[in-house]
Amino acid sequence: MSHPRPIKLGILLGSLRRGSFHGAVARALPGLAPDGVTISQLPSFRDFPIYDADIQAEGIPGPVELLAEAIRSVDGVVIVTPEYNYSVPGGLKNALDWVSRLQPQPFAGKPVAIQSGSIGPIAGSRAQYHLRQIMVFLDALVLNKPEIMIGTIQSKLDETTGELSDETTRGFIGKQLEAFAAYVRKVG
Ligand SMILES: Cc1cc2nc3c(=O)[nH]c(=O)nc-3n(C[C@H](O)[C@H](O)[C@H](O)COP(=O)(O)O)c2cc1C
Repeated sequence: MSHPRPIKLGILLGSLRRGSFHGAVARALPGLAPDGVTISQLPSFRDFPIYDADIQAEGIPGPVELLAEAIRSVDGVVIVTPEYNYSVPGGLKNALDWVSRLQPQPFAGKPVAIQSGSIGPIAGSRAQYHLRQIMVFLDALVLNKPEIMIGTIQSKLDETTGELSDETTRGFIGKQLEAFAAYVRKVG
């Protein structure tokens, strides 16, 4: 039997919080990846300035270049993010705004999968659909289904370790990664 093409995925995390629940989801992804898929964290946008065309004119900040290059170097990006005020967290939007100014634009033609969550029941779905809209302009290739929306995300983590332990959630995520790997191999 032939082996599928090995692929590399990068995770873009929408929360900077030290104890981020989405950070726990992100840490679980490498262990849930199907055969032939390696997943690692992309550099954080923590040190990005707020987007300002004057800063851009003086030179692209190093952390922006770093993230853009890391996105270009992977076969696909998994965005794991909470929802802030019914939309995409400002830090993540700012990061997308910055990298969208670079050439070659890192998201153009790049397969993207989205995972959102929330401490409430709506699971970040509004942020997820706003993110899909943003990705249209960035010309990314966003996986349609299965969608990953993790409601009451705090209850899906192990109380002692803080890691993602809920088997149903882990199973759904594994299915999305399988679908995403097939999608990347098809369109990437
Ligand atoms: C500024 C702000 C806005 C928020 N807005 C929403 C929201 O619109 N919908 C929602 O479900 N949760 C909202 N939350 C709650 C987040 O789901 C919760 O803080 C979650 O833990 C953030 O993810 P993290 O643990 O990965 O940082 C908001 C939190 C913050 C700090």
